[in-house]
Amino acid sequence: MDTYLVTGGAGFIGSDFIRYLFERYGDDIKVINFDKLTYAGNLENLKSVETRENYRFIKADICDREAVYGVFESEDIDFVVNFAAESHVDRSIMDPEAFVRTNILGTQVLLDAARNCWITKAGTKEGRRFIQVSTDEVYGTLGSEGFFTEETPPDPRSPYSASKASADMLVKAYYHTYGLPVNITRCSNNYGPCQFPEKLIPLMINNALCHRGLPVYGDGRQVRDWLYVRDHSRAIDLVACKAKPGETYNIGGHNEKKNIEMVRTIIKTLRTMTKDDTISEELIKHVTDRPGHDRRYAIDPGKITGELGWLPETSFEEGIEVTVSWYMDNRNWLENVTSGEYRDYYRRMYGGQTP
Ligand code: NAD
Ligand code: DAU
Repeated sequence: MDTYLVTGGAGFIGSDFIRYLFERYGDDIKVINFDKLTYAGNLENLKSVETRENYRFIKADICDREAVYGVFESEDIDFVVNFAAESHVDRSIMDPEAFVRTNILGTQVLLDAARNCWITKAGTKEGRRFIQVSTDEVYGTLGSEGFFTEETPPDPRSPYSASKASADMLVKAYYHTYGLPVNITRCSNNYGPCQFPEKLIPLMINNALCHRGLPVYGDGRQVRDWLYVRDHSRAIDLVACKAKPGETYNIGGHNEKKNIEMVRTIIKTLRTMTKDDTISEELIKHVTDRPGHDRRYAIDPGKITGELGWLPETSFEEGIEVTVSWYMDNRNWLENVTSGEYRDYYRRMYGGQTP
C-alpha cells in the first residue's frame, strides 16, 4: 500500500487531489494530509473522505522541522506531494515574508526530511518520489506570441513567483546533489470548486451573487491559461507514478482567456442560472492595476502529453458551468470562508471598501 504525504491538502488543489486519489485508488493507498490551516485551508473541503480509515489529518506547519520529521518517523512515506504554499500574488505584494518562509524554507524542511528518510547508506529506497507543485508564474510574462516550455528560463516578477522559483531551484539542487527522486510540475491557472474567493473566478462569482462591484485590474486584457482543477490532479498523479526522476513538466490546457472575457462569461452564466437581470456588466469596475502585473501566461504542455499521455478532459464550457453551479449551491461555504480574515484583507487592500 502506497502512502502519500500531501501537504496543503486542505486548500483548493490539494483537497481536489486527495478526493481524486481516493476515487481512483480507494483502500489501496493511505493519505496523510499535513496542513497548517491558514485562512486558505478548510477541512470542509474534505468532508467526503474524513472518516476513511486510510486518511489521517495532521495540523502542522511545513516549516516545523520536528513535526515534519515526526511524520516521516511514524509513517512509511512513498510519495510527498507538496501543495502547501502561500498562493495569492496580491498578498505577496503586501507582505512577502510569509511567502519566503512557507514556500522556500518549508520546502527545504520537507526536502531534508525526505532525504534523511529515503537516502540511506544502502542507497535510495525504491519507489519514492517528491513532487513539488510549482507554477507557470516562475517563467514570468509573455508577449502576445509564444508559450512557456520547460526550457524557458525562470524570470519571476512577483514575491510569490520568486518564492516558488526559489523552491524549484532547491528541489533541483536536492536531485543533483543528493540524488533525491524529485519532479516539478508547473501548472497554469486552475479553476473549480473550493477555491478561496480571493482568486479571480470565485471572487467574481461571490461578488456578483452579492451584487457587489467586480474589480477588474487595469484594462482587463491580461491573459491567463485556465485548467479545470481535476485535470491538474490527474496530471500530478501521472507524474508521480510514471515520470523519470529529475524531470519538470508544464501542465496547461491551451485555454487562454483575457480577464475581461472571463468576467463577462461569469456574468452571463450566472445571469442565465439565477435568472437575475441585475447581474450585469454594469457591475464591472476597472480598478488600479496590480503592480508588476504579468501580461500573459500560456503553457506548452507537449512534454507531459508526449511522454506521459496526459490531456485535459474537461472543456472550458463544461468546467465553468460546473464551477459556477458549485458556488451557487454552496453559499454557506462562501459565507464561512469569507467571514473573518478575508474582510480584513480587503479593508487593507481597498482602504475600507469591500469590492
Ligand atoms: P491554496 O492557497 O488554496 O491552499 C494552500 C494550502 O496550504 C492551504 O490549505 C493552507 O492551509 C496550506 N498551507 C499554507 N502554509 C502552510 C504551511 N506553512 N504549512 C502547512 N500548510 C500550509 O492554494 P492552491 O491554489 O490550492 O495551490 C496549491 C499549490 O499549487 C501551491 O503550491 C500553488 O503555488 C500551486 N499552484 C496553484 C495554482 C492555482 O491556480 N491555484 C496553479 C499552479 C500552481
Ligand atoms: O498561473 C498560476 C497561478 O495562478 C498560481 O500559481 C497562483 O497560485 C494563482 O493564484 C494564480 O495566480 P494569478 O495571479 O494569475 O491568479 P488571480 O486569480 O489572483 O488573478 C487572475 C487574473 O485576474 C490576474 O491577471 C489578475 C486578475 N484579477 C484578479 C483579481 C483577484 C483581477 O483583474 N481582479 C481581481 O479581483
